[in-house]
Amino acid sequence: MPDYTNSNLTIISSEVTPGAIRWRSPSNIALVKYWGKHGNQLPSNPSVSFTLDGAATDTTLHYAVRKESGEGVDVQLFLDGEPNAGFTSRTKGFLEKILPIYPFLKQLSLVIKTSNSFPHSAGIASSASGMSALVMCLVSLEEVLFEPFADRTAFLAKASYLSRLGSGSACRSVYGGAAVWGELSALEGSSDEYAVSVTDNLHSVFQDYHDDILLISRSEKSVSSRAGHGLMEGNPYAPARYAQARQRTDEMLSVLQSGNVERFGEILESEALTLHALMMASNPPYMLLRPNTLQCIERIHEWRQATGHPLYFTLDAGPNLHLLYPHSIAAAAKAFIREQLLYFCEDKMYLADRVGKGPEQLEVSE
Ligand code: DP6
Repeated sequence: MPDYTNSNLTIISSEVTPGAIRWRSPSNIALVKYWGKHGNQLPSNPSVSFTLDGAATDTTLHYAVRKESGEGVDVQLFLDGEPNAGFTSRTKGFLEKILPIYPFLKQLSLVIKTSNSFPHSAGIASSASGMSALVMCLVSLEEVLFEPFADRTAFLAKASYLSRLGSGSACRSVYGGAAVWGELSALEGSSDEYAVSVTDNLHSVFQDYHDDILLISRSEKSVSSRAGHGLMEGNPYAPARYAQARQRTDEMLSVLQSGNVERFGEILESEALTLHALMMASNPPYMLLRPNTLQCIERIHEWRQATGHPLYFTLDAGPNLHLLYPHSIAAAAKAFIREQLLYFCEDKMYLADRVGKGPEQLEVSE
């Protein structure tokens, strides 16, 4: 178990000149879902995801020595150039939570400028990309103020650990390709406290896999993921679900290695439907699927049966469908989306995405 608590990470104010650090970090799509948590952001089951490429958050962290010491962390957050009170308070809460790990945060004044590559209200989870982008900036800042990490693995493990404390799924976004979060006996180095990369074992067919995101509805979700995780506590199916997810993560890892796109798709769709079945079986019950989600699912099944093409869907905790398929069928898949599915999407929109390479540090532009 890593213990990143470190009271020595404090600065000598006169030695720090103001600066800025910028990272772009992507969202990820879970193949086997994290749903249910305990303790301090620990998952009730292991999960595995593909990191995306296009759907990402671009964050610049500006820092300077704080003039007057005060309570808590001094931070202001701008979303798309506008001050954002909601995100500022959420970010402040997160930075204060990690003060035992990064006590220097209290000695600085921070301004965070962030923007997403996807439309603001696209209904796409931004917590994974947003939290991981911020944390990549923070871990880079640690290197600027103190010592460089021994290697990239150590840097990313800490980034993943800190991201997890902000939002569980974010811990998988610090790696490109595919990542596993949660301890698995078959996967050396795996942990409930941070994710690990499984990209080295990824079959070539998955390395440039497509994920086209159908924007079925842009409305705010009626129940947040946070509340949804909480409802797993009283869910009578929870113990069976946790055992199933563990077994499926194991199987998914061998599928990712073997390149079996059909078995991949069977697990993928069952995971999506199981996630939503768990919501419907919660107390109180709730449903995030929309009629148009079901319309699309039916057409996906029909099209797959008619063409034999391995295009499968998954869902996050919302109504939008992610369509995953190999590059070899991209032309047919895109024609299918345009001709049969866009009709069911709000504003006739979808986002074309792919498996990506993970976070990237950028030049500071302002
Ligand atoms: C359905 O990571 O958003 O997307 O830890 O409370 O921030 P918090 O939850 P979050 O939950 C994501 C749930 C999911 C499945 C997944 O990404 O594994």
